[in-house]
Amino acid sequence: MTDRAAMPELFTWEFATDPYPAYAWLREHAPVHRTTLPSGVEAWLVTRYADAREALADPRLSKNPVHHAESPGARGKTGIPGERSADLMTHLLNIDPPDHTRLRRLVSKAFTPRRVALFGPRVQQLTDRFVDGFAARGEADLIHEFAFPLPIYAICDLLGVPAEDQDDFRDWAGMMIRHGGGPRGGVARSVKRMRAYLVELIHRKRAELAASPAGDADDGAPDDLISGLIRASDHGEHLTENEAAAMAFILLFAGFETTVNLIGNGMHTLLTHPGPRAELQASLARGESALLETAVEELLRHDGPVELATWRYATTQLAIGGQPITAGDPVLVVLAAADRDPARFTAPDAVYLARADNPHLGYGHGIHYCLGAPLARLEARTALATLLTRLPDLRLAADPADLRWRGGLIMRGLRTLPVAFTPEAAHLN
Ligand code: HEM
Repeated sequence: MTDRAAMPELFTWEFATDPYPAYAWLREHAPVHRTTLPSGVEAWLVTRYADAREALADPRLSKNPVHHAESPGARGKTGIPGERSADLMTHLLNIDPPDHTRLRRLVSKAFTPRRVALFGPRVQQLTDRFVDGFAARGEADLIHEFAFPLPIYAICDLLGVPAEDQDDFRDWAGMMIRHGGGPRGGVARSVKRMRAYLVELIHRKRAELAASPAGDADDGAPDDLISGLIRASDHGEHLTENEAAAMAFILLFAGFETTVNLIGNGMHTLLTHPGPRAELQASLARGESALLETAVEELLRHDGPVELATWRYATTQLAIGGQPITAGDPVLVVLAAADRDPARFTAPDAVYLARADNPHLGYGHGIHYCLGAPLARLEARTALATLLTRLPDLRLAADPADLRWRGGLIMRGLRTLPVAFTPEAAHLN
C-alpha cells in the first residue's frame, strides 16, 4: 500500500531546485502517478526506466494534441511559448505517422551528421569568441555570457540566417527563454516576428536556388540548412513553405534552450563534483577525447536539460507498468526519473564520467528521438573542453544552495551560473 504520508510535494521551489528525491519516491511507491500540474491539467507521470522506454516507443501514445480529452481543439502543448498563435503546429513534436515519417525523412536528408561534422570548426570559433568576451575578467555568468549565446548563433549559422540578422534572433530567443511556458504578449510577439522572418528568408533562399544553375550545392548553390530543407525531396515530394518555416522554427527552438541547459547543467555538475572534473581535465590535458565523449552522455543522464519528454496522449485504453490509462489522458514520461532508475543504472545518483553502459533517455527514444543529437554533442563537447582547458581553475562563485533553477515543466536549467577563475592572460604569461 502506498505510503501517502511520505508523498513529496511536486512543482514547489524545492522541487525545482532538486527534483531527484521526489522522483526516487515516485519510482518506488507510485511509478505511474496521476498528478495535477501547476496549469491545472491532470496528467500521468511515468518514472521507471523500463516503463519510460516502452511508453516513448508506444504508437498508442499520440503526439497530436487533438487526442487530449480535456482540449478537443488542437492546442499547442510542446511547451513552446506562443506556438498556438503563431500557427506552427505542423512540426515533428506535434504529429504522428504517416505525416511524421514523411517530414522526418525529408528533414533528415538536409540535417545530416555530415553537415554537422563539417560545422565543427565554426562551433569552436564561436565558443572561443564567447570565452574571449570574459576570459580576462576573472569572473562571468556562464549562462548569460556563454551557454545562452553559443547555441543561438550556432543554429542561426547552420540554418543560414545572415550574420547581420542574428542579433535579432538572440533577442527573440532571450525573450522566449526568460518568459517561456505561456503565450504572454512579448513572447507571442517574438514568436510571430521570428516566424515572419523565417517565411521571408525561405522565400529569398528559394529564389536564390532557382537562380543558381543546377540547384546543387556542389555547383556553388547556397549550402545552408534552410536551402537544404528547400531542396530536400523524397519520391518527388518537397516540404511546403509552411512546413519548411515550421521545421526551421522547431530546429531553432528544440536546439536552443536544450543546449543552453546541457552546457549549464553539465558545467554545474562538474563544478560541484571535483573528482570527476579533475579526471576530465587531466584527460583533456593528455589530448584524449574518449572520456570527453562518455562524460557528455553521463552529464546528460545525471542532470539533463529535458526533465520531461514532451506531451503524449493515450489514443485508446491501455496500461503502463500495470496502471490502466484512459483514452484521452495525457502521459508525461519523466526522463530525469528514468535516467536515475537503480533498476537500470548502477549507482544512478553518482557521476561516473567513464560510464560505459549508459543507454540514457536524455535524447528520448523511438521515432521522436532527438534529431539534433549530433549537433548537441558537438556543441557540448566543444564548450566543456574549451572552458576546462582555457580556464583551468574555473570555480563556482556562489553557494550551490543559492543557485536558482527555472521552474519550467519540460526543461530543467539554471537561471545563472556565476563562476570565478584566474584571468586567462595571467596564466598564459
Ligand atoms: C526531440 C533532447 C538538442 C532538435 C528531442 C527529444 C528529446 C530531445 C528528449 C524527444 C522529445 C519527445 O520524444 O517528447 C535534446 C537534448 C538536447 C537536444 C537533451 C541537448 C542539447 C537538440 C538540437 C536540435 C534538436 C541541437 C536541433 C538543432 C530536435 C528535434 C526533435 C527533438 C527536431 C523532434 C524530433 C521528432 O519529433 O522526430 N530532443 N535535444 N535537439 N530534438 Fe532534441
